[in-house]
Amino acid sequence: MENSPLKWLASISVGLVAGVVFLSNLETVGAKEKSVVQLPLGLDAFKVPADNPLTKPKIELGKQLYFDKRLSSDNTVSCASCHDPGKGWSNDAAFATGVDGQMGGRSAPTIINSAYFPLQFWDGRAKGLEGQALGPIANPIEMNLPIDQAVARLNAIPGYKKQFRKVFKSDVTADGIAKAIASFERTVLSGNAPYDQFKAGDESVLSPAAKRGMDLFFNKAKCSACHKGHSFTDLAFHNLGVGYDKENPDLGRFEVTKLEGDKGRFKTPPLRDIHTSAPYMHDGSIKTLKEVVDFYNKGGVKNAQLDEEMKPLKLTEQDVEDLVIFMKEGLKSAKYPHVDPPELP
Ligand code: HEC
Ligand code: HEC
Repeated sequence: MENSPLKWLASISVGLVAGVVFLSNLETVGAKEKSVVQLPLGLDAFKVPADNPLTKPKIELGKQLYFDKRLSSDNTVSCASCHDPGKGWSNDAAFATGVDGQMGGRSAPTIINSAYFPLQFWDGRAKGLEGQALGPIANPIEMNLPIDQAVARLNAIPGYKKQFRKVFKSDVTADGIAKAIASFERTVLSGNAPYDQFKAGDESVLSPAAKRGMDLFFNKAKCSACHKGHSFTDLAFHNLGVGYDKENPDLGRFEVTKLEGDKGRFKTPPLRDIHTSAPYMHDGSIKTLKEVVDFYNKGGVKNAQLDEEMKPLKLTEQDVEDLVIFMKEGLKSAKYPHVDPPELP
């Protein structure tokens, strides 16, 4: 690791002590421990870049920036406009609307548990949360504010200037904005669902239907071939054929790699608290969880790159219902990561 080019992604060890997570960045901070973020039951430790340790003042600053519409050209759009804690950290539209009512061609993914994903976006084109955070600010159809202008705006707000000095020992910088927002996003964690409590030994938390659905999820329907691990994603890209029968379909991962086999592949989304973030899929084309399961039951949409796991599942109506109940009841966080908008400087 010492000489690795990935040194910045040095690992953080996380230990659970009396319900509070102590993060100690063994590579850079040594034994200095900070109690920063609570890791809910069922979630693994995650990594943070060695040059961006989590601290409470930085998280608080990132939260303000996340909710601040002044980071858009016409002061109308913030990160929370499209990734709204009240709407599953997503929005309830198929496509996200940015400044001047402009729309992109993809649905806003939730940012729940995005701390765990090394590649961001449906096609994985951005590395890490720091690598993603400035993109939407400058993006002409999202917030449309060139980064140097964003920096100048924030530097003119005494409350922000003061906080940046405290957290980063400098005036407002683009790097600091990205680091603070990423730190806040790392606190948006969903776990401690009935599924986790069941795994920890409490059988009573899942209804008989949810238990049947769980069994289907991991066995007959093999959803777990792709939605695996504690956040229910393999972090890989697959072609289910969603939207692939349209004219000029979105080619997904192919746009990044230019590899034929990546055509129509999209990142497996996480499924915790999934009932809060309809509509579904990269193009928001499926409205309900039942319709998602119906889509899988038919084997997706046939095409040359269709994933080999995608075939008709022969699920009964009862099976479909049970799978939906498992997702709705089993994966819902006991304490949904809802936060109230902060006061802004
Ligand atoms: C106008 C709506 C809009 C705004 C504003 C917006 N986003 Fe997004 N966000 C999206 C869409 C749409 C995508 C998916 C784009 C894609 O995959 O190509 C996305 C993707 C993401 C992802 C990747 C999640 C994943 O699972 O891959 C993160 C993280 C994210 N946005 C954070 C932010 C932050 C931080 C801000 C504010 C600085 C922000 N977004 C502002 C619409 C928006
Ligand atoms: C071959 C891998 C694979 C399998 C198997 C699979 N999924 Fe998916 N799942 C994905 C991918 C990739 C997407 C996003 C596809 C897109 O938008 O084009 C997705 C999307 C979803 C979504 C929408 C999430 C969102 O945020 O929009 C849900 C819900 C879902 N899957 C549930 C299931 C269930 C239930 C099963 C089992 C019946 C299952 N998946 C099987 C890979 C898979």
